[in-house]
Amino acid sequence: MNWGMKNRLSKTINPKTGKTVMLAVDHGYFQGPTTGLRELKKAIDPLIPYADCLYITRGMLRNCVDAQTKIPIFLRVSGGPSILKDDLSDEHITTSMQEALRLNAVGVGMSIFVGGKNESRTIANLGKLVNEAEPNNMPVLAITAVGKEMVRDARYLGLASRIAAEMGAHIVKTYYCEDFKEVVKACPVPIVIAGGKKIDEKDALQMAYDAIQDGAVGVDMGRNIFQSDNPVGMIKAVRAIVHEGASVEDAYKIYKK
Ligand code: R5P
Repeated sequence: MNWGMKNRLSKTINPKTGKTVMLAVDHGYFQGPTTGLRELKKAIDPLIPYADCLYITRGMLRNCVDAQTKIPIFLRVSGGPSILKDDLSDEHITTSMQEALRLNAVGVGMSIFVGGKNESRTIANLGKLVNEAEPNNMPVLAITAVGKEMVRDARYLGLASRIAAEMGAHIVKTYYCEDFKEVVKACPVPIVIAGGKKIDEKDALQMAYDAIQDGAVGVDMGRNIFQSDNPVGMIKAVRAIVHEGASVEDAYKIYKK
C-alpha cells in the first residue's frame, strides 16, 4: 500500500487498536432534516471529540463543521433519490474526487444496492469511484444499502459485502446479522457496521459488542448515538467496546453515567 493510502486509512482505523468509531451523520442526503440532526452542528459538536472519523456530506461539512477541526472526514459522495421516492437505489456519484481532495477527505463513501432496481448502475458506480480513487490514494467505503424487500441475513449481506470488496472497496459498511462471522470470513477488507434504526441503548451496545467479537473493525454508527437520550454517554460507551474491549455491562454503565 502506498504512503498516501496508508496515511489516510490510519486516520480512519486507529493503528494502535486496529479499530474505529466512525460517526455517521450523512442521513440528510436522502432523509432531509433527520431526527437528532435537525441542527447538525449542535448535535455533532459534543460528539466529535469521541469519534475517530466523521462520515458526512460535503454540504454539511462546509456549513456545520469548523475548518480547524482535527477530526478526519469521510465524505458521502453518492445520492439522488429522496425518501419520497419508492426506489432509493437510483443513486449517482454526486461529489467529485477533486472535491474530496480539496476538502482534505481521508476517504469517500457510497452505497451499492445489491438486488435493487438499479443494482447494476450502483455497482458500476463503485467500480468507477475506485478507479478514480486509486491514483489519488483515496480509500473508498462501500455501503451495502438494504431495500425494504431485502432480508438482512448473512447470505444477502455476505453477497453484497463480497461484491463491494470485489469491486475494489477498501472498507465495507454493512449491517450486523446472525452468523455475521460468515460475512466477515468471505470479505477480505475491513468491515464496519451501521447501527440502523434507533433501538434500546443496551441492545445497540450488545450489537456493537457482538460485531466486534465476530470480526468487525468497528462501527459507523449514527441514529443509535445521536437519537439517544444521552448521545455523549452513548458514543463513549460504544468507544469503550470498540477500542477497549469493554463488556456490554461496563459500557452500559458508561452510557448511564
Ligand atoms: C445510510 O445510508 C447512511 O449511510 C448511514 O451512514 C448509515 O446507515 C449509518 O447510520 P445508522 O447507524 O444511523 O444506520
